[in-house]
Amino acid sequence: MPIVLKSRDEIAIMREAGRINAEVLQMLVDCLRPGLVEKELDEIVRKEFKKRSVIPAFLGYQGYPATVCVSINEEIVHGIPGDREMVDGDIVSIDLGCVHKGFVADSAVTVAVGNVSPEGRRLIEVTRESLNRGIEAARAGVRLGYIGAAIQAYAEGEGFSVVREYVGHGVGRQMHEDPQVPNYGNPDSGPVLKEGMVIAIEPMVNVGDWHTKRDSDNWTVQTLDGSLSAHFEHTIAIRDGEAEVLTLP
Ligand code: MF3
Ligand code: CO
Repeated sequence: MPIVLKSRDEIAIMREAGRINAEVLQMLVDCLRPGLVEKELDEIVRKEFKKRSVIPAFLGYQGYPATVCVSINEEIVHGIPGDREMVDGDIVSIDLGCVHKGFVADSAVTVAVGNVSPEGRRLIEVTRESLNRGIEAARAGVRLGYIGAAIQAYAEGEGFSVVREYVGHGVGRQMHEDPQVPNYGNPDSGPVLKEGMVIAIEPMVNVGDWHTKRDSDNWTVQTLDGSLSAHFEHTIAIRDGEAEVLTLP
């Protein structure tokens, strides 16, 4: 499938989608505390999306049963919000997507709940900065591999590993469009980034090794070695040659 470049008007709609997604994601972050049950986040999303007239992008996607992914500690991504309570010291990744006027926005953050270990806190900061490095690397004229190479060099330089089996993606009319956006690899690989491209960059960084396994629910992805993992994601557009972050409040 060829990469679809978005027009100026389409990017304006995606900017609204991104703002709404970021606002609701921030509301979820603000209510995290020990004792909060994962499912409560799903309930908030349903209510707040309805209020803003946007559609959950994840609900029903390949049968996914919720509006948001909640992945705790050694869980990397795609955790289904259930009856689990958050406890002091957890690191919680929240991934959210909405559809607004036919266009998708997708973003994620990892948050420390209460007193998190120094290692957990450092993992969160390194993963946040990995995403920043990827965003800075994304500009018109460079090859896509430059993004992943920047993320990998930084995260591995900090002593952590980058998940290989799950990657970022083009985004727009569909949640997952071409191209795939790996968080690792050769800088001189992949298509050349062009004005109007919209992609979701989403590094997943582990304290231990990069290998993953799937939970018995067939969705939740965990680190194979049981080490902590963090995940940050923004939807960005290449505008005037540079990355514009669309998923900001
Ligand atoms: N941000 C995730 C992704 O890009 C969201 C997908 S979760 C799903 O793949 F449940 F909808 F699959
Ligand atoms: Co995504």
